[in-house]
Amino acid sequence: MSFEGKRVLVTGGSKGIGRATVEAFREAGARVAVNGRTTESTAEGIAALGGNDLIAAPGDIGTAAGCEAVVGAALDAFGGLDVLVNSAGVAMARSIETCDESFWDEIIDINLKGTFFCIRAAVPALRESRGSIVNVASTSGLAGDPNLSVYCASKAGVVMLTKALAAEFAPEVRVNSVCPGWVYTDMAKRYINKSDDPAAALAGINAESPMGRIARPDEIAASILYLSSEAAGIVTGANLTIDGGSMVSC
Ligand SMILES: NC(=O)c1ccc[n+]([C@@H]2O[C@H](COP(=O)([O-])OP(=O)(O)OC[C@H]3O[C@@H](n4cnc5c(N)ncnc54)[C@H](O)[C@@H]3O)[C@@H](O)[C@H]2O)c1
Repeated sequence: MSFEGKRVLVTGGSKGIGRATVEAFREAGARVAVNGRTTESTAEGIAALGGNDLIAAPGDIGTAAGCEAVVGAALDAFGGLDVLVNSAGVAMARSIETCDESFWDEIIDINLKGTFFCIRAAVPALRESRGSIVNVASTSGLAGDPNLSVYCASKAGVVMLTKALAAEFAPEVRVNSVCPGWVYTDMAKRYINKSDDPAAALAGINAESPMGRIARPDEIAASILYLSSEAAGIVTGANLTIDGGSMVSC
């Protein structure tokens, strides 16, 4: 797939799935803007990617103003936009009895509100370029997980936002999502390393998948590139589950 000359913004692009997506777009010839939550984390992410060619688009996507600043930095640098990837997100587990309002707000603001307001800020430019949006949801947006009610609700919201906005933006802008199962990033490692027996926790995650293993970030990035590409020119409102088959028997 070639993205020669295409202008791409990846939120959460300094780490994990976002970083792998930045690398894949860059290898495919795109110009890429990288968002991290702060100026420092964005610069660190860009340095880790060895990226003099990458554009910094720092900002906290947990507020509408932050989303506008992030998208604005990419538009200022590129003069337009062809692809928006919403990968920034947080996952935290708590039973409902221990969830307070600030816990709810943090997860919903970053995962759901942030996705919505980044899209709102980017859509005029994407309409102009007949561009595309890919949202990173989760299998937790399709099936319930204990102690992850807020995260599940945020990701189910992203799945439905994808469908509603696909209908609203067609035919100018395509909107799709991916729903990864477990992916071996810092997010998964934090969960694994919190366990009393990290090796057993990782083995348990691998065993949940009919494919017998956790996904790599580049495997999610590959699907994000496909959904952004001309090969998916008729695909909109779709949600691609990428979980080694974990959901087939749900
Ligand atoms: N790792 C998994 O197992 C998994 C599974 C399904 C879905 N996901 C989703 O994939 C996406 C990427 O997660 P990951 O695994 O790469 O995690 P990660 O923790 O490695 O990366 C998340 C990125 O989001 C950024 N971020 C968080 N809050 C932000 C904010 N307020 N403003 C700007 N950036 C912010 C972080 O700085 C980081 O760069 C998330 O939306 C996550 O929910 C991950």
